[in-house]
Amino acid sequence: MKQIVDSVMDWVEVRMPVSKLYKEHMADYYAPKNFNFWYYFGSLALFVLVNQLLTGIWLTMYYTPSGGEAFNSIEYIMRDVEYGWLLRYLHSTGATAFFVVIYLHMFRGMMYGSYKSPRELVWLFGMGIYGVLMGEAFFGYLLPWGQMSYWGAQVILSLVGAVPIVGDDIALWVRGDYVISGVTLNRFFALHVVALPIVLLGLIAMHLFALHEVGSSNPDGVEIKEKKDSEGIPLDGIPFHPYYTVKDIMGVVVFLIVFCSVVFFFPSGGGLILEGPNFEPSNALKTPEHIAPVWYFTPYYSVLRAVPNKLGGVIAMGGAIAFLFVLPWLDRSPVKSIRYKGWMSKFALTAFVVSFLILGYLGTQAPTPGKTLAAQIFTIIYFLFFILMPFYTTMEKTKPVPERVTG
Ligand code: HEM
Repeated sequence: MKQIVDSVMDWVEVRMPVSKLYKEHMADYYAPKNFNFWYYFGSLALFVLVNQLLTGIWLTMYYTPSGGEAFNSIEYIMRDVEYGWLLRYLHSTGATAFFVVIYLHMFRGMMYGSYKSPRELVWLFGMGIYGVLMGEAFFGYLLPWGQMSYWGAQVILSLVGAVPIVGDDIALWVRGDYVISGVTLNRFFALHVVALPIVLLGLIAMHLFALHEVGSSNPDGVEIKEKKDSEGIPLDGIPFHPYYTVKDIMGVVVFLIVFCSVVFFFPSGGGLILEGPNFEPSNALKTPEHIAPVWYFTPYYSVLRAVPNKLGGVIAMGGAIAFLFVLPWLDRSPVKSIRYKGWMSKFALTAFVVSFLILGYLGTQAPTPGKTLAAQIFTIIYFLFFILMPFYTTMEKTKPVPERVTG
């Protein structure tokens, strides 16, 4: 039997170097030995991606993308399709989990300066993924055709109208109608199930391709390729397989315990995963009292509302995301990891995270004069983190980086 398997493998190998690829990216791919908790989230993002693709494909088998039928087809999935409720909750909770995992993954990158040379492209592809993921979530949210789907999309698309001269025409072109309608639903469906997933998969492939070319960084920010043994193996590296495959499986198990607890016991997440008004069918004649996007968009929604002028708000919201793209060029520090940066960088990163979280909270709330003022203050702090970065990263005193990774 083994002989047959071996000869089939040899036959394939001559035509397609499967085992060469496996060795290059798994068994002979050396990763730093000091990965910590924060290094679970890349593999978890891949895991959640597979969950979204599989549950998404099965949901598509029962969902009807038309203005008249969409809401009812979701109810049909929830009540009549065998395990339909499970498919839907895995997908809706998966969307929230995706953003939790991605935000922690991005925070790791910011904390350890993973975006710095030579990993700028890894970061840029990552930011591309983040942008597409936001689009994917936005288009997907219209599909249940509930009140919040409808009015959320209405609010966000009306922002396009703020662009001078061509804004209204662009909004009309995107909607395919004068208001959000079945036509819009149809095109959002096409984008959500076909177009964006293809782009997402392509970007993820590029993200990992770029990462494996330069190799992973680590919590110390020491380049392990600089110290190799006589056989060319990094002294501080261990083979990805089996060491990190086993570690990542452990991460998946712990993740699944938390994830399944939410799916089975708390699927609406207290309105954070599935918003209350979305259990009502969309009604173009009835605007909900308070329209708020899902939690992962609320920090940017707060930035938008903090600026009194509509166009200004849209520009600020775009700027809040655009600054993240250019992070590798704003950080001028001679060291990568926060462990060896000075107090100013530590203070700035903490202020950034706090402002992001508070803006996120404020974005879920109906605006009051006090809350708007708070949103304005934290929007300024958010932007100062980026604008002042070239200065505080060069002014502060850094600690010496060790030659080899620590622990
Ligand atoms: C579907 C989304 C994504 C997937 C599947 C993914 C996957 C991965 C994986 C498997 C790794 C290696 C393991 C690890 O370092 O945790 C990684 C590393 C990295 N990712 Fe992502 N990623 C995604 C999104 C992002 C985003 C949105 C960003 C930032 C904007 C980003 C930035 C990075 C960086 C900088 C590294 C290198 C970290 C280091 O070497 O220290 N990724 N990614």
